[in-house]
Amino acid sequence: MTNKSLAKRPEDTCVLVTGGAGFIGSHTCVELLAEGYRVIVLDDLSNSSKEAVRRVRRIAGAGGERCAFVEGSILDRDLLGRVFAENDVDAIIHFAGFKAVGESVEKPLEYYWNNVAGTLVLCDVARAHGVKNVVFSSSATVYGEPEFVPITEDCPKHAPTNPYGQTKSMLEQVLSDLYAGDGEWNVVLLRYFNPIGAHPSGLIGEDPKGIPNNLVPYVAQVAVGKLAAVGVFGDDYPTPDGTGVRDYIHVVDLARGHVAALRWMGGKVGTGEPRGLGSVAGEPAPDGTRRGVGIFNLGTGRGSSVLEVIAAFSRACGRELPYVIKPRRAGDIAVNYAACDKARDELGWVAEYDLDRMCEDSWRWQSMNPDGYAS
Ligand SMILES: NC(=O)c1ccc[n+]([C@@H]2O[C@H](COP(=O)([O-])OP(=O)(O)OC[C@H]3O[C@@H](n4cnc5c(N)ncnc54)[C@H](O)[C@@H]3O)[C@@H](O)[C@H]2O)c1
Repeated sequence: MTNKSLAKRPEDTCVLVTGGAGFIGSHTCVELLAEGYRVIVLDDLSNSSKEAVRRVRRIAGAGGERCAFVEGSILDRDLLGRVFAENDVDAIIHFAGFKAVGESVEKPLEYYWNNVAGTLVLCDVARAHGVKNVVFSSSATVYGEPEFVPITEDCPKHAPTNPYGQTKSMLEQVLSDLYAGDGEWNVVLLRYFNPIGAHPSGLIGEDPKGIPNNLVPYVAQVAVGKLAAVGVFGDDYPTPDGTGVRDYIHVVDLARGHVAALRWMGGKVGTGEPRGLGSVAGEPAPDGTRRGVGIFNLGTGRGSSVLEVIAAFSRACGRELPYVIKPRRAGDIAVNYAACDKARDELGWVAEYDLDRMCEDSWRWQSMNPDGYAS
């Protein structure tokens, strides 16, 4: 079946956002609605709440009417069939999946099943309805221990050290193979670095269940007094202050990267062919939309150390946050940050917000919602 065309106005384009009630998904829905897109959120609420969708609609104002919500899983073939049959879906932004690295080691079957099998079901049903435009949430984890920094998209991939990372690497392969077997597919793989921050309204943000796995949500809970001190794993790395350096990106910038990817797929931005760096360019479709596999890093291109993040968050919340130095964690690397020139040149996208702004927005969300959406 011929792929749906993205050569039309956002107002006429319907985007299925799987995992749209989650952290990155909810922010992406806000940006899509602001650009005029029609949005259907499909989420099983396994790591999110309906309240996030309500708040997305609130931020969007009148545009909130263009946001529908379906509660259910990407593993539910019948439900997906109904969603595609009842809505004129043009493209999918696929966030749905489990994402906790440590948990994935303990529950590999659940991770492979939800992330890999779920994506296979989604793509199969989408294809049957002529929808072959997919933006996929990948991760810098696919680079493993990178061969060089800043990491460009043609930095070789290395086997991830945990099942979560494996699912990302496998799904990149699956989606690339879909295009190799059927040139109608139009795929973008977005490799995120470390998304943090929250919407400036303070209405939506990251709402981790239990003790947070990631640095900034952890720091935020120390700031509201729910946790005693930040654990800093290793202060003897070959970096200026000895702590690990990562590329943190504001979630609003990241969300806008998805809108840029959709525009690019529709042939609306960027010039000429993708210039290699991992991407595979197909013949453009007769309507000017792209075919192929586009691969883009989404980061800021700047690295910040753990101590710099704690200092920035301390400035944002107005008090020195306590931290304790602990031994290095197995598998952690010293320095990891992105080269983002390709996204700038082809998607016309650059990250705008700096670390201070990320921490200010995280703090606003955390202090307005100390218990997340349950507050
Ligand atoms: N947050 C990060 O640091 C990061 C980094 C790189 C990549 N990613 C990827 O980006 C995507 C979104 O991440 P996030 O941080 O917003 O996570 P999140 O957990 O907040 O969002 C994922 C959403 O998917 C939903 N979900 C899970 N399984 C589902 C299923 N079978 N059917 C329907 N919905 C399902 C969850 O309820 C949740 O709302 C994930 O694929 C994640 O792996 C995240």
